[in-house]
Amino acid sequence: MKNINPTTTNAWSELKDHYKKIENAHMREMFAQDGDRADKFTLKWEDFYVDLSKNRITEDTRDLLLKLAEECKLDEAIDSYFSGKAINQTENRPVLHTALRADKNADIKVRGENVVPEVQEVKEKIRAFSNEIIDGTRKGYTGKTFTDVVNIGIGGSDLGPVMVTESLEFYKNHLKMHFISNVDGDHVHETIKDLNPETTLFLIVSKTFTTMETLSNATTVREWFLKSVPEKEVSKHFVAVSTNLEKVEAFGIDPKNIFPMWDWVGGRFSLWSAVGLSISLAIGYDNFASLLEGARKMDDHFKNTPFKENLPVQLAMLTIWYNNFFKAESEAVIPYSQYLDKFPSYLQQAIMESNGKSVDRNGEKVSYGTGTIIWGEPGTNSQHAFFQLIHQGTKLIPTDFIGFKKSLFGDKVHQDQLMANYFAQTEALLNGKTAEEVEKELKSKGFAQDEIDRISPFKVFEGNNPTNTILIEKLTPESMGKLIAMYEHKIFVQGIIWNIFSYDQWGVELGKQLANKILSEFATKTVDEHDSSTKNLLKFYLDK
Ligand code: F6P
Repeated sequence: MKNINPTTTNAWSELKDHYKKIENAHMREMFAQDGDRADKFTLKWEDFYVDLSKNRITEDTRDLLLKLAEECKLDEAIDSYFSGKAINQTENRPVLHTALRADKNADIKVRGENVVPEVQEVKEKIRAFSNEIIDGTRKGYTGKTFTDVVNIGIGGSDLGPVMVTESLEFYKNHLKMHFISNVDGDHVHETIKDLNPETTLFLIVSKTFTTMETLSNATTVREWFLKSVPEKEVSKHFVAVSTNLEKVEAFGIDPKNIFPMWDWVGGRFSLWSAVGLSISLAIGYDNFASLLEGARKMDDHFKNTPFKENLPVQLAMLTIWYNNFFKAESEAVIPYSQYLDKFPSYLQQAIMESNGKSVDRNGEKVSYGTGTIIWGEPGTNSQHAFFQLIHQGTKLIPTDFIGFKKSLFGDKVHQDQLMANYFAQTEALLNGKTAEEVEKELKSKGFAQDEIDRISPFKVFEGNNPTNTILIEKLTPESMGKLIAMYEHKIFVQGIIWNIFSYDQWGVELGKQLANKILSEFATKTVDEHDSSTKNLLKFYLDK
């Protein structure tokens, strides 16, 4: 991969000049001046209608952003990404979650070997296992069929599976799904308290099988299980997903019950692998396969579409525009579907763990902003919670609005109410409300002029708040696969432009090391060298 500081490109300098011209321009005027604006900035692809026209951009902005992508050699980087080059250079690994959803006849080489046949083998194992659990062929140790499945994992071994399982709840079968992630004992005990060991299946999911939270939760669950069940029955109820086969066996999992994964799949991009076993169990293998198929279609779109019509590229470049030129620090993602409740938290890991880096590919401190802060909640709940700040606060918060044309239960009244809000919010964020409009409205309500003068400033909305409207036909496994993959590739593009390594996460290590050290101090009830604040806190804690 090329190593290009984006600020040294011609496009960056031109964008800086261009920004000066545009920073105070109002989108209201841009729409008034150009009747074709919406069409010019709308991308239609398969069942996706993505309107980017409500952004603080002109056609020149788009051209310059694309020039930046070209100067940063995005096209070469995309080739390296899909062809299995070790683009995760700090860990010397390829980044190939795309191989997990590639066509079965594809040839994708890692260290000289085509990995697609192994991927197919594991998929077949997922299919067979899911079918047997769902149809009751595979039973618990007393001969009863399974009713509950518990996924024990954290980070990428939890967030993807739980987010997709909840997003596709409509397609779910009879199995009740549970997710234990936090090392907080109350989380594990609250989850298992009503479970019946005879009818519960446990999936221990950890790429490394060294993660403290997962091993601790798995140990607690195993002990709880063994209180009422003979040890020889563990193999009927515990399976594991990992790259670390030795450690899994040492934990006491039957090798037949191990679903392998590979070091070239990053944790936060792993839901397409056996890490997604809980998804396949919850919605059935065919639906899981459709999810992967949706992602594959997005991969093809990303790989083969000119940048001007390329969804991940366009979305990524808009983030660069706001983050690096407008200095917007955060972005909101608002799904207008309660099913997508966990989508913003899933994206928080995917985006912030990937692009939360301050050192470039030369190992030097960057002089420009990188990873944005991601947050959000489903609409319309978010409107009644934090939208006030987006509309009238002092911060610029570009927002993605994700909506579906059709509801799943077909309740037209609710769907129209939901979607009226979806469209209204982007319109309000664009246009705002001027002082004249406020005055006119108050007058029509019979307010006296002095009262109008007093109250008007508080009722004015400046507008000019950027939004992306991502409108999809219907929430299905396939469209969900497309949506997730779209954001995955957006992350990749941003990492290339910012010249950072998006696929490691060294920043989470220090806290883990210190927690282990503190844990050993708890064991001996001694407090070693710490800063005075931490020392006092530890003493206070140990005093209980
Ligand atoms: O939080 C750091 C991290 O390494 C994530 O990247 C990963 O998804 C998570 O921990 C869990 O790791 P594992 O699957 O190895 O238990």
